[in-house]
Amino acid sequence: MTPGSFITLEGIEGAGKSTLAAALTVMLERRGVDIVRTREPGGTPLAERVRAVVLEPGAEALTPVAEMLLMFAARRIHLDNLVRPALARGACVICDRFTDATRAYQGAGRGVAMQLIDHLASLVHDGLQPSATVLLDLPVADGLARARARRGEPDRFEVEETAFFERVRACYLELAHAEPERFIVLDARRPPQELADEAANALLARLSG
Ligand SMILES: Nc1ncnc2c1ncn2[C@@H]1O[C@H](COP(=O)(O)OP(=O)(O)O)[C@@H](O)[C@H]1O
Ligand SMILES: [Mg+2]
Repeated sequence: MTPGSFITLEGIEGAGKSTLAAALTVMLERRGVDIVRTREPGGTPLAERVRAVVLEPGAEALTPVAEMLLMFAARRIHLDNLVRPALARGACVICDRFTDATRAYQGAGRGVAMQLIDHLASLVHDGLQPSATVLLDLPVADGLARARARRGEPDRFEVEETAFFERVRACYLELAHAEPERFIVLDARRPPQELADEAANALLARLSG
């Protein structure tokens, strides 16, 4: 795999992103690829503190624009302090969620203007784009059933209604349709090992040279 590849994983709650990130890391490391596995929002101690602010249900309102700004603030901290240094030394980064999630959740889900999101993305990314993005596509009911079977209290997103996640899922599919050269779309109802094998093969095919 080309050193400095930046791989992002996307999909609704319960789609299997964390499961796939773990499996891909093992499989690619076995092939000698230097992998840094991380997630958004978060990924560094400071950005994880922003994550807690965004995800924890609380009494005080967090409006859609404020939520989006926190996502981009956490993202810039993560890019500056972890992602860019890792890519610069030639590691490949696997990131569980990135700016497509902001488009899907804050844009399609919460109604923030896409133009505003794209504008902030260009400021915060400063030229960096994912080399490839794996979209785990799953019917909303299946994703929510999986996510709710996990231990712990639901976060500020998991409490949303089905229509919210339908908008998120549809937006992800539109983004993938618009950029087929970047996206690898997988049916997330398939068994985890099959998904990991297919994702690894597709990434190695696209990102070697
Ligand atoms: N391909 C799959 N088929 C069935 N269950 C899965 C699959 N991938 C993950 N799971 C299970 O679904 C739940 C959510 O998976 P997770 O990887 O945490 O999703 P995400 O990180 O996208 O929210 C977990 O209990 C996990 O074991
Ligand atoms: Mg996860």
